Amino acid sequence: MIQISNLSKSFGDLKVLDQVSLEIKEGDIYGIIGQSGAGKSTLLRCINGLEGYNAGSLKVEGKEIADLDPKQLRLMQKEMGMIFQNFNLLSRLNVYDNVALPLQFWGQKKNAPENKERILDLLKLVGLEDKVDSFPSQLSGGQKQRVAIARALVLNPRILLCDEATSALDPQITKGILALLSKINKELGITIVMVTHQMEVIKEICNQMVLIEDGKAVAQGKPEELFVAPNSVVNKFLGESSEILPDTGKNIKLFFNNNNAEENVITGIARNLNLDFSICQGKLESFRGTTLGSLVINVDDGDEQAVLKYLDERNIQWERL
Ligand SMILES: Nc1ncnc2c1ncn2[C@@H]1O[C@H](COP(=O)(O)OP(=O)(O)OP(=O)(O)O)[C@@H](O)[C@H]1O
Ligand SMILES: [Mg+2]
Repeated sequence: MIQISNLSKSFGDLKVLDQVSLEIKEGDIYGIIGQSGAGKSTLLRCINGLEGYNAGSLKVEGKEIADLDPKQLRLMQKEMGMIFQNFNLLSRLNVYDNVALPLQFWGQKKNAPENKERILDLLKLVGLEDKVDSFPSQLSGGQKQRVAIARALVLNPRILLCDEATSALDPQITKGILALLSKINKELGITIVMVTHQMEVIKEICNQMVLIEDGKAVAQGKPEELFVAPNSVVNKFLGESSEILPDTGKNIKLFFNNNNAEENVITGIARNLNLDFSICQGKLESFRGTTLGSLVINVDDGDEQAVLKYLDERNIQWERL
């Protein structure tokens, strides 16, 4: 759906995107994560043609964005709804009229029966059917973001681009908005691109992600692969210092996936091999509702081979630290 290869972009001497390559497939909820100033918003703005690029290729549904003339670009932008961090609602318009705005921009009447039905359906989808006549000042942050989502969907886009859509919201409200985006992805089949600096957002709904650092795509893949067994770049982003581990015996890190997270692997080692070990560090995390995690155990030198054999026989991924 979106194919980016070796995309580079500079503002004057400042290189903001440096040879970024990635592919977003139809139906993805694709996360773009990175520190402030990494170039995430710029990347998103390149996708919908609000920014140009200096080198490389950026194709949406097979069309190179830089090659589109203004009219073609506007038609392409119609396919891409956009949601911003600060909601961008017009305070003098009520909820209905804010959602109707893109339709009016395309020369349609906001009260034409089919448009009215569409707007009211969308407000129902986002759970605001009772706020149709309210003004933005009468809404909470979460409600404002729901209006912005309804507005982004009013032209029936195939792609939804979200720039820090939940950063201004508290954790509980964020969960509600993420659930709504997930529902929109599933029920309406809309591909979603989420720019965020919140790892929680990625873990909650994204099926693919890229980590951007100083304009470069430094890690890509499924969130559960990147976060459960992080490489050094991901670790640096997460800010996790290397744990303090015993310097005697052997430290073994076990990775739990979907299939074995709930099995009693640990007590199984002790019971079946009849040996003692200590647990040094561990975490279990939820990714799109499935539990994944890692655990570091310390075993005596002489027990190592038996433990590794036990893990291999049960297809449990491990790493010696
Ligand atoms: N129009 C512009 N002119 C000049 N520099 C810009 C412009 N837009 C962005 N930049 C610079 O490009 C870099 C990347 O900005 P961008 O907004 O893409 O970062 P970001 O990853 O979205 O950060 P944040 O998480 O803070 O939103 C920053 O150094 C920023 O100052
Ligand atoms: Mg930004």
